[in-house]
Amino acid sequence: GRPHSSSAASCSVGSVSLASELSFLLEPSDVIAVRDRPLLLDCQVQGEEPIMVTWRRNGAPVNSSPRVRVLANGTLFIQNFQKRKEGSDADVGEYECAAQNRYGLLVSRKAKVQMASLPKFHTHPVSMKVDKGGVARFQCQINGVPEANITWERDRVPLSTSDKRYTLLPMGILQVTGVRQVDAGVFRCVATNIANTRYSHDARLNISGKTNIPVKTYKEPVILSGPQNLTLTVHQTAILECIATGNPKPIVSWSRLDGRSIGVEGIQVLGTGNLMISDVSLQHSGVYVCAANRPGTRMRRTALGRLEVQAPPEFLQWPQSVSKPAGGSAVFTCVAQGVPEPHLIWLKNGKVLVPGNNVKLTNNNR
Ligand SMILES: *[C@@H]1O[C@H](CO)[C@@H](O)[C@H](O)[C@H]1NC(C)=O
Ligand SMILES: *[C@@H]1O[C@H](CO)[C@@H](O)[C@H](O)[C@H]1NC(C)=O
Ligand SMILES: *[C@@H]1O[C@H](CO)[C@@H](O)[C@H](O)[C@H]1NC(C)=O
Repeated sequence: GRPHSSSAASCSVGSVSLASELSFLLEPSDVIAVRDRPLLLDCQVQGEEPIMVTWRRNGAPVNSSPRVRVLANGTLFIQNFQKRKEGSDADVGEYECAAQNRYGLLVSRKAKVQMASLPKFHTHPVSMKVDKGGVARFQCQINGVPEANITWERDRVPLSTSDKRYTLLPMGILQVTGVRQVDAGVFRCVATNIANTRYSHDARLNISGKTNIPVKTYKEPVILSGPQNLTLTVHQTAILECIATGNPKPIVSWSRLDGRSIGVEGIQVLGTGNLMISDVSLQHSGVYVCAANRPGTRMRRTALGRLEVQAPPEFLQWPQSVSKPAGGSAVFTCVAQGVPEPHLIWLKNGKVLVPGNNVKLTNNNR
């Protein structure tokens, strides 16, 4: 879940003669390419023939070569996707196709093409010593494109997820509650995506306390790890971490800072206190409070995390083709929604339309 830094939508005015109207049946979509593998970017248009399809990368025309060419159906074919090399351009970038017939030119959306990668871990798990009956937590972090799948090993053996005391959160967090002597060992995480597999450094879990009897001394509740601030896109899954220690064992509960109900649909508790919200919608945005209570008292500790849900731009109204006599005026309307609010760009024959003598943009088109 990476935040969308900006969102833009474009409205295109193609030709004004209905019979010849150009439109996209298929526009290129964002994709993660694998090095040295072929990549196809689709662009399917309809309209009066002949139609010429051309491609641009980062605004510059894509030149045909034996390695890169436009197929008869408009698809851009890159034979073996290349990483940046000295003196030559990489294939990563923003691609758009343009379709032209004798009436006008139409430009597609920009498709972001990234290359799959798995750089080194930037956070490795750290060794820790935990009292018998206590809580252990390990974390590893890696910035994979696409996001890496993280699994854990203890003493080089994959950790089974069937033990209820072990909670594996997808963002690279391992929690072990009610630790016992058998949990001691060497832990590491394994990250995998289409580009590579990597192993983290080792972290040792040591268990202190000689007997099997849990420690009798009173310990105030402490939140070992609270929720992080998250920015997600609608339909993703939010996981808000909360793990607490204390003696007696604290009770973890969740609420919203604004007092609104968290609801029940799509809500699950993972492990002893982590909150999972499946299929997030805009209403889930807010500040979430995790509270660790000492049983039977009002004694409590809290931790906060903000969840921000964004929605990609979506058109509510499109410009319609019109026929007008010379000297008259034509009005085109375009309405889009999204969070944060999208900004609209008008294009005419593939070029950004700037307000001028006889062109006026109103509302947020400026
Ligand atoms: C275009 O042609 C290529 C090669 O024949 C094919 O792989 C691709 O799926 C086609 N694209 C569309 C949108 O039909
Ligand atoms: C991650 O790896 C595990 C173990 O190989 C597998 O069961 C799981 O489906 C994978 N998850 C994803 C999202 O690829
Ligand atoms: C979360 O965001 C709030 C502001 O909205 C900030 O005060 C707080 O420090 C952030 N917490 C973390 C863990 O980054």
